[in-house]
Amino acid sequence: MTVSDHGARHVAIIMDGNGRWAKKRLLPRVAGHKAGVEAVRTIVRAAGDLGLEAMTLYAFSSENWKRPEEEVNDLMGLMKRFILSDLDEFAANDVKLKVIGDWRALAPDVVALIDNALDRTSGNKRTTLAVALNYGAQDELVRAAKAAAAQGEITAETIEANLDTADMPPLDLLIRTSGEVRLSNFLLWQSAYAELYFTDKLWPDFTPADLKAALDQFARRDRRYGGL
Ligand code: IPE
Ligand code: IPE
Ligand code: MG
Repeated sequence: MTVSDHGARHVAIIMDGNGRWAKKRLLPRVAGHKAGVEAVRTIVRAAGDLGLEAMTLYAFSSENWKRPEEEVNDLMGLMKRFILSDLDEFAANDVKLKVIGDWRALAPDVVALIDNALDRTSGNKRTTLAVALNYGAQDELVRAAKAAAAQGEITAETIEANLDTADMPPLDLLIRTSGEVRLSNFLLWQSAYAELYFTDKLWPDFTPADLKAALDQFARRDRRYGGL
């Protein structure tokens, strides 16, 4: 039996619950986000080991700007540090970085850092790690529809070809942690026939064993796509 017998190629995760994880420990929210980055590191390693071709992680939504400026700054700072400190690890594990969402609208230093990381990992082949940054699915769909219209015709195919995820395998499994049961403007188009998996675990507590459990359940699901 090989690691990818679960049959999933692309898994996406709404990494939710960092704030509640910190609150439970009487820590500031930023401590939860730091613990969340540690979980990202472990899960990205596990994704490769579990034979996934692609993993998309929701890191900052287009609605997260509504949070206090201090928290937004903390999140951006952690993002920058993560990209910088993990570039060597991406190289070692053959991880190709991708960023989806309106990330070019972020601060110039963040954009430059991302550009460099994309460039340095572009030749890696084992796993694609797509980080959703300043991402909102409705915004993605508006951008894709505009691009499709500019190219001639708006069809399901031309919209899909202009999504941020166009070069990725179809989404198989969407996981959300922390007990919330909603999509919060994440991958709305791509979720049309993805399997959904909700767990009460808070994101910093989510382990490779939890990912494996989700994939085991995925392997037992019957995907019918409207057929029999
Ligand atoms: C998810 O954790 C991380 C981001 C949205 C950036 P939250 O910060 O949403 O944590 P909760 O939902 O308040 O517990
Ligand atoms: C979704 O979580 C966004 C990320 C995980 C980055 P939120 O915590 O922002 O979602 P809501 O506000 O509970 O819907
Ligand atoms: Mg949340």
